[in-house]
Amino acid sequence: MPLSTRRPAALRVFDRVVRGDARTVLERLPAESVHLAVTSPPYNVRIEYRGYSDDLPPDQYLEWLKGVWRALHRVLVPGGRFVLNVAPTSIKDFRPIHHDLSRDLRALGYIMRTEIIWYKQTMGRRTAWGSWRSPSNPHIVPSWEYVLVFSKGQWRLPGDPAAVDITAREFERFSDGFWQIPPERRRKGHPAPFPEELIERLVKFYSYRGNVVLDMFGGTGTVAAVARRLGRHYLNIDSSAEYCRLAAERIRAATPPPDAPIPPPPRSVAGPRATAGSPVSRPSAPPAASAPAAR
Ligand SMILES: C[S@@+](CC[C@H](N)C(=O)[O-])C[C@H]1O[C@@H](n2cnc3c(N)ncnc32)[C@H](O)[C@@H]1O
Repeated sequence: MPLSTRRPAALRVFDRVVRGDARTVLERLPAESVHLAVTSPPYNVRIEYRGYSDDLPPDQYLEWLKGVWRALHRVLVPGGRFVLNVAPTSIKDFRPIHHDLSRDLRALGYIMRTEIIWYKQTMGRRTAWGSWRSPSNPHIVPSWEYVLVFSKGQWRLPGDPAAVDITAREFERFSDGFWQIPPERRRKGHPAPFPEELIERLVKFYSYRGNVVLDMFGGTGTVAAVARRLGRHYLNIDSSAEYCRLAAERIRAATPPPDAPIPPPPRSVAGPRATAGSPVSRPSAPPAASAPAAR
């Protein structure tokens, strides 16, 4: 067979850290293999990440992300969830980016379940008042972020009732959509890591033990580490070798409780080379990057 027509081998789906471009890696995963994806993409607000610039023109940024959302849709199981965290844009160049993203995701066929307001309790450190004590041009300071929640194809996610681990008290608290959680103060080598509490709530609320949880812009592996600690399988993708290295270290340290080992993933997801509970894999060689701005 000529090389150009050969399909790349499918990647094993879970318990891996993969260095590569999010969309390219997603396109190599088997269809319907992920139960929950939680991510925050680069915000396009000029944050200094390792290896690329975070300031694409807004329409190019949204177009690039659309390719990732399309690739993700194929990979989610029916009823699989996608949780997208996004911060408001800067005060001066304000654009309702969360509206743009919701519109794009719904146009791609995702069901929008809800939005959660993550209130970060950061008003003590505010600096930008605009016109102080005057209605001429005052500023609202974004002290929150959006957590937009989608489903693929159907609202329900089938699962084993014995693999539910959320308590009644947690369920009551988390189902109130205003989440007061301070931002992560320990940077762990990354400019914008998730606080673990945010991810714990999402993983427990939206997935079963033994499910596969993905972050395709995984940074230093907060989603993967929390997922593993809570008895889920993980897949962490990031384009930076350094962040992947830090993520692998962190995930290795995040062990599930010994009395509650991680259930094997459903057979449909396991694939021929999968072994439940396999160790954190070394970051693989990056698939060829195809997104703009060295992403
Ligand atoms: C907002 S950060 C995510 C941080 C993460 N939530 C954490 O807790 O560490 C976005 C990440 O996307 C990564 N990234 C940028 N372009 C990418 C691409 N094309 N494919 C995969 N990852 C990419 C960056 O290296 C960065 O770590």
